[in-house]
Amino acid sequence: MGTHEFPRGFTFGVATAAYQVEGHIENDWSEWERQGRCKDPSHRCGRAVDHWNLFDHDLQLARDVGSGAFRVSLEWARIEPVRGQVDEAAVDQYRQRLVRMKEAGVRPVVTLHHFTHPQWFHRETPWHEPSSVVEFRRHARICARILRGLDALVITFNEPMVLLLGGYLQGMIPPGLADGNKAMLALGNLARSHVAAREELLRECGRCEIGISQNMLAFRPDRWWHPLDRALTRLALDNYNHAFLRALTDGELRVQMPGLASTRQRIEGARDSMDFMGINYYTRAHLRFIPKPPFLQFQYRDLLGRGLTDIGWEDYPEGFAQLVLDVHHTYGKPIWVTENGIDDRQGDRRPGFLYDHWRHLLGAIHQGADVRGYLYWSLMDNFEWLEGWGPRFGLYSVDFETLERRPTPACHYFRQVARSGVLVEPPSLRVREDAGR
Ligand code: FCB
Repeated sequence: MGTHEFPRGFTFGVATAAYQVEGHIENDWSEWERQGRCKDPSHRCGRAVDHWNLFDHDLQLARDVGSGAFRVSLEWARIEPVRGQVDEAAVDQYRQRLVRMKEAGVRPVVTLHHFTHPQWFHRETPWHEPSSVVEFRRHARICARILRGLDALVITFNEPMVLLLGGYLQGMIPPGLADGNKAMLALGNLARSHVAAREELLRECGRCEIGISQNMLAFRPDRWWHPLDRALTRLALDNYNHAFLRALTDGELRVQMPGLASTRQRIEGARDSMDFMGINYYTRAHLRFIPKPPFLQFQYRDLLGRGLTDIGWEDYPEGFAQLVLDVHHTYGKPIWVTENGIDDRQGDRRPGFLYDHWRHLLGAIHQGADVRGYLYWSLMDNFEWLEGWGPRFGLYSVDFETLERRPTPACHYFRQVARSGVLVEPPSLRVREDAGR
């Protein structure tokens, strides 16, 4: 393997999530938006980008950029809109789509839970109650039926710590709680639900690989010299990046966030319950101690003068390699990058962003990390949760009025690298370098 070559069999692909693209979904988020609880109440997801009706077209777009894998999620609210009543037509639709995907030579990467819930869920069986595990097991059983024989890469949960922080500690996303005790009960039940889902999948699916997608941040003390900033950084690394992965590796959930939430729980069956580690990487956070609650200030800084991305995040590819190596050394498992991407309205930064992140990823691979694939977030522009319709992460830009998808300048470059497995510089990078001379 040359220094610019990805390993043989390395898979490039693209990622999406049901609620952000499909449209026509009634779930906890649609209620949340209707109640005006998003930053801007006009930010309704609604028809999203109508991926539900344009699936085949979008699958073709994914193939056009050389994707060997396509990450989608199965919307629980579509499958089980009323508790205990399965919508068989929706189940069948999902199954047919994934079969077509597989037949087209694209490996299905399927998330069972990507932030959203059916509307009955938080009222009747919220995550802090043990009944949530029973319900999620049933959902997973249905998903396993959809996935039978497809050799899918299955992600039980997308970013459990984001769900927990946003939904159970900051109250910013459904279910909108700020309660440390409930948060820790919920986190334990998310881990138990992963174990339950794994049992169902292994029983029903035939060949499949099972893991989670963990949002991982590079952390830095805002003031290098400050002991409390440094202590916060260590805590963040341990709790945010590792606590959940560790629970699914050694079977014990240990969280220690002083003043916020702490727990130590055994999770039955969780030891070694992931076949791969899914990493979602976007940026670096600078942490500063402040002497009043919540005692922590979290900031993005353009320390290296690259310019923050449009959503305001630091462009920090160096952190990508560090995290991948950290996960490799800590767990020794195969790794999939299940999300990485940039909000780039003009579309001119994306090729350089890809090049930089791939270069660092290759660096980690050459140092021994067993990385199997890279999925770009996202195939196309979509509904970005609390940020609504502003951010543009898509390889394809979408006109939200006409729903027309148009390739951004990164499509050509993505295809070139995905098809050849060889990292070359994008033309825009050469321009960037010339300008800097
Ligand atoms: C991740 C989410 C994904 C998308 C990207 C930008 O945290 O998993 O749905 O919103 O951020």
